Amino acid sequence: MNIGIILYSQTGHTLSVAEKLKKQLEEKGKNVTIQQVTISGEAAPDKFTFTSTPDVDPYDAVIFGAPVQGFRLCAVMESYLQQLPAMEGKEAAFLVTKQLPFNWTGGTNAVSTMKKICQEKGARVKGAEIAIWSKSKQEKSVRNSVDNLSRLFS
Ligand SMILES: Cc1cc2nc3c(=O)[nH]c(=O)nc-3n(C[C@H](O)[C@H](O)[C@H](O)COP(=O)(O)O)c2cc1C
Repeated sequence: MNIGIILYSQTGHTLSVAEKLKKQLEEKGKNVTIQQVTISGEAAPDKFTFTSTPDVDPYDAVIFGAPVQGFRLCAVMESYLQQLPAMEGKEAAFLVTKQLPFNWTGGTNAVSTMKKICQEKGARVKGAEIAIWSKSKQEKSVRNSVDNLSRLFS
């Protein structure tokens, strides 16, 4: 199974979790590629231009990763997902990172947005994890997210 981890990471947190996830999946014998969505301009709606929009075609399953920004899915990942072609026959899962530990601060909303767009494109959604970046929660939260996501592809 070819797994793509396709992510947008403004300050490197989501990328660092994705690298741990890649390592864990590879230890289970999976073929995993990380690809980054990149932009020029600011990461706010209508203020950026894509400089890289990775293709989902090579993958049987794609784990999309992105941060919460402004209590919702960051605009870059939302636009990236919207411009993807149909994903019939593909599996999808989501990794969201965020700073604040409270439920109402954008994580669930971000996951719902990712899920809705991917389901509308025909992907079969397998699960989602929210990794909290606040100092006291980070280590455990990242470990749980990586464990739970890698378990989805065992
Ligand atoms: C512009 C901006 C807005 C943010 N808004 C939120 C937010 O609403 N809720 C939250 O929990 N964290 C918020 N954060 C924190 C990021 O979600 C968090 O640091 C995330 O792990 C960053 O991931 P990245 O380094 O992959 O970009 C925000 C960060 C930025 C830069």
